[in-house]
Amino acid sequence: MRLILALIISLAASPALAQPNSAAADAAVRAGFPTAPADWAPRLTADETMQQCSASHNSPAKDVAEAIRKREQATIVYPSDNNFMGDWQRGEKLAQSGYGLRFTDYPPRQANGGNCYACHQLTRAEVSYGTLGPSLSEYGKLRDFKPDAVKATYEKIYNSHAAFPCSTMPRFGANKVLTIEQIKDAVALLMSAESPVNTGK
Ligand code: HEC
Repeated sequence: MRLILALIISLAASPALAQPNSAAADAAVRAGFPTAPADWAPRLTADETMQQCSASHNSPAKDVAEAIRKREQATIVYPSDNNFMGDWQRGEKLAQSGYGLRFTDYPPRQANGGNCYACHQLTRAEVSYGTLGPSLSEYGKLRDFKPDAVKATYEKIYNSHAAFPCSTMPRFGANKVLTIEQIKDAVALLMSAESPVNTGK
């Protein structure tokens, strides 16, 4: 027991573990994709937010979290007519689709998906879903379909870190995985009263 404790203490105190060597990690990631097309470079290089999240094991200090929140909020591009709701049926399709950014999806042959079900429960009809993220069942209903909540949902999907620094949810708009129109469709899936997410059908 004493030996195990000593091991744990020495591991915890080890500078290599307390401060990950992110330059070495970045180099290892880049070396892992020697034939990657040139436009993959940004995906293989951690941006400032990712570096700060890695360095803090996704628990940034208050001031760093605030800097991340501000920086990521500034990336959000809003629909020009301030209408945040698209078509929930298209939203359901993209929530189901994991197409995009995989080795086999290059060059792209169809629109990217959001793969929301990989991490979230949404409609009751879909029984296969991941639980990394919270259930989004009745998302709009629970928020009384309020206009402020509609806007916040758009922002959340566009850039998850603006609301939750070091979120493990992808930054769909900021990283150009989804277009503004697609994000509006995902918002409709969550926030329109007719969506099965809210009717429970
Ligand atoms: C890789 C996993 C992952 C994927 C894929 C993902 N999310 Fe998330 N999502 C999360 C996690 C984890 C959280 C909780 C932390 C946070 O709020 O950022 C979350 C939070 C949310 C929230 C806020 C929930 C709340 O209670 O406030 C919404 C809305 C949301 N996700 C919508 C979506 C939509 C729509 C998609 C698909 C376009 C999606 N997510 C794809 C992991 C994911």
